[in-house]
Amino acid sequence: MSVTASTQVGIVGAGPAGLLLSHLLALRGIDSIVVENRSRAYCEARQRAGLLEAGTVELLRAVGLGDRMDAEGLEHGGIYLQFAGERHHIDFRDLTGGRWVTIYAQTEIVKDLIRARLAAGAQLEFEVSDTEVAELDTDHPVLRFTDAGGTRHEVSCEAIAGCDGFHGICRDSLPPGLVQVAERSYPYSWLGILATVPPSTDELIYSRHEDGFALHTMRTPQVSRLYLQVPADEDIARWPDDRIWDELRHRLGVPGWELKEGPIAEKAISPMRSFVASPMRYRRLFLAGDAAHIVPPTGAKGLNLAIGDVTALAAALTDLLGQANPDPANAYSDTCLRRVWRATHFSWWMTSMLHVDPHPDPFEAELQLAQLRYVIASRAAATTLAENYTGYFPPHWP
Ligand code: FAD
Ligand code: DHB
Repeated sequence: MSVTASTQVGIVGAGPAGLLLSHLLALRGIDSIVVENRSRAYCEARQRAGLLEAGTVELLRAVGLGDRMDAEGLEHGGIYLQFAGERHHIDFRDLTGGRWVTIYAQTEIVKDLIRARLAAGAQLEFEVSDTEVAELDTDHPVLRFTDAGGTRHEVSCEAIAGCDGFHGICRDSLPPGLVQVAERSYPYSWLGILATVPPSTDELIYSRHEDGFALHTMRTPQVSRLYLQVPADEDIARWPDDRIWDELRHRLGVPGWELKEGPIAEKAISPMRSFVASPMRYRRLFLAGDAAHIVPPTGAKGLNLAIGDVTALAAALTDLLGQANPDPANAYSDTCLRRVWRATHFSWWMTSMLHVDPHPDPFEAELQLAQLRYVIASRAAATTLAENYTGYFPPHWP
């Protein structure tokens, strides 16, 4: 026996994409339900991205989600690029006519969104199981799930948004043969740590070192986040804390600069992959965020892309459901894929320029150094980096 109900939009996944979509739809008077198979505490603690493009920041402000971000976020006007033992500054504000990026952790965006949705009385179901989407050949697709108490639900929707991440169920629910996948795997992973120690830098440091890439980023004035390139199939057990700090000091070090060390609160290894599924829509099922595409983390595009997708999707669903105008929904996949492929190229380029191939290749290494020297010497090349990093296709919220 299932409890049956109806809503306008069924949303699978309470990551940043699903939660923000629900919020944007509510601003346009459209009802939704969000179902999430993890607990609220898990979603709020999952360590992932931390860097927001200027356009993402402006969007969150415009839709009433900017207060804590503006109070606690750290605005950065550039980054450091380090190679061959020297550190160089890339000044985004100068190169892009004032654009910037903001450090504000994905965990904090998710907390802000969950709080805002619950305060608005939204239907937000955590710890669901056996999520299914069905009746996809009709104008009333169905979302089924079992709630935390064990009751089965069947919700008739006018549209469904698959915001369920890379391992979700929605992408695989599209008709067989419809989806084309373009992908690339990389022969390395990132070991990321969260450390309770003030950052040792005012802006992010991206370092290409002959022993591998390293990145110094941060979360707050008291908390640092750092990453190391490690082999693709690396076992975290091989990285005790002392080894991590030794390697970070080695790869990030320049004369006259010191890396502050502190307790490591969390460490994990993430694989690196580029993956784009297209189209991002079948009839009234729409994919958004990591459910449709993944980029390697170098350049921090994943979260920003997810936010770009759902901003376009909320506008398209408003027209489709509110005014029976299908044009933006018909254009949704192509509109998003333009931004996605720009970011896919940029993330691939940053990754390829900064990581060291595990199979030594002197030709490749010289190309990387030539590219890095060009980026710091040529205003045109630095501008290419800066305008992509700060967001080439900012989301547009009407
Ligand atoms: P997600 O955040 O993955 O949310 C999807 C949600 O759907 C999850 O809460 C999941 O539990 C839920 N779900 C899945 N299946 C079901 C189901 N069957 N039923 C109900 N719910 C379901 N990006 C950066 O820019 N910089 C980084 O440093 C960075 N680090 C990352 C580290 C890791 C380990 C990962 C996995 C990603 C990282 N990313 C990073 C990418 C960035 O975090 C993602 O692009 C972003 O989370 C995408 O948001 P999303 O809402 O599309 O997907
Ligand atoms: C962060 C992650 C990235 O991949 C990146 O390029 C910049 C910042 C971060 O976690 O803060």
